[in-house]
Amino acid sequence: DTGKSGYDHFMLKEIHEQPRSLRQCLQGRVDELGGQVELDELAGVNPTSVQFVACGTSYHAALYGARLFQEAGIPAQAFLASEYVTAPPPVDDALVVGVTQSGETADTLSALRAAKRLGARTLGLTNVVGSTVARECDHVLYIRAGPEIGVAASKTFASQLVTLNLFSLAVTDDHDRESIGSLRDLPSTVQEILDDSVAAEVATAYLDADAYFFIGRGLNHPVALEGALKLKEITYRHAEGFAAGELKHGPLALVTDNTPVIAVATGDDEFARKTVGNVKEVEARDAPVIAVTDGQSDIERYADHVLRVPETHPRTAAVLASVQLQLFAYHTAADLGRSIDKPRNLAKSVTVE
Ligand code: G6P
Repeated sequence: DTGKSGYDHFMLKEIHEQPRSLRQCLQGRVDELGGQVELDELAGVNPTSVQFVACGTSYHAALYGARLFQEAGIPAQAFLASEYVTAPPPVDDALVVGVTQSGETADTLSALRAAKRLGARTLGLTNVVGSTVARECDHVLYIRAGPEIGVAASKTFASQLVTLNLFSLAVTDDHDRESIGSLRDLPSTVQEILDDSVAAEVATAYLDADAYFFIGRGLNHPVALEGALKLKEITYRHAEGFAAGELKHGPLALVTDNTPVIAVATGDDEFARKTVGNVKEVEARDAPVIAVTDGQSDIERYADHVLRVPETHPRTAAVLASVQLQLFAYHTAADLGRSIDKPRNLAKSVTVE
């Protein structure tokens, strides 16, 4: 199939397109020196609080986005769109942001319409120009990932995370050079991962696993959730993502020597160290450990395998870690001979509630 440019699947092609799609996402929005973010689309948008609504992969991006705003001192929360409509919270002067790659997901549209009825201003963060979300929202922010054919989202997730970064930096008028510079460098750091990843070999080592558990803290919590969802969608194997701290409150009962634990820990702050503590607990129960790390903490001491990401700003590290997890899911599915671009029972965009 010529559309795949020599790749076995659209998903692998789209994973490898990320340096380019991220460059497009950043184009004209970050200055050359990395000191300023400019989003013309957001002129006049000054939210005092933000409610995100989304489904599936986009919900994981929304969880990440909510954390960025919280870190910047703006109250923010992410909601599953299908739940938001069951009891919409007071909107007051909140900006309600629908995160949706397709711009057509029925659950997300309903949540945005519910918010609108309550008087909220709405913003659509989407990939598709002219989509229903783009037309119905008061403001639109495009992620500019280009068309995605694989049903399981890959490049659009990375572009959502980056656009959410730009969004939070722009509305808080944050000029932090370190984080802006690390975003600007993302196309080349993602390329490094694509060139050097050992995810294919690691994936092959665990094809007989009973289940896969993904853990992460803070910004890496949504990364862990997304890693598990990706694996479920395209391999049909059981996978769960947890906040690293929650593992001991129940899921630990499921951990055995045949349930690999994929632990995402970047940086070496208090939170990364706590995740290392959680990893020690699973290692003591003989679970194989796959660490996704930039090498700053000592997580590697307890890991059977390492998926390395370059050292960078924590916000950006989460994007890089998610690329490693895309590759891990992809190669597991490829080894199992799955229908990667069109997984059973799933649709690219779901237009019923
Ligand atoms: C479907 C797709 C998922 C996607 C979700 C939300 O269920 O299979 O991959 O994450 O819809 O899609 P959206 O277009 O709203 O981001």
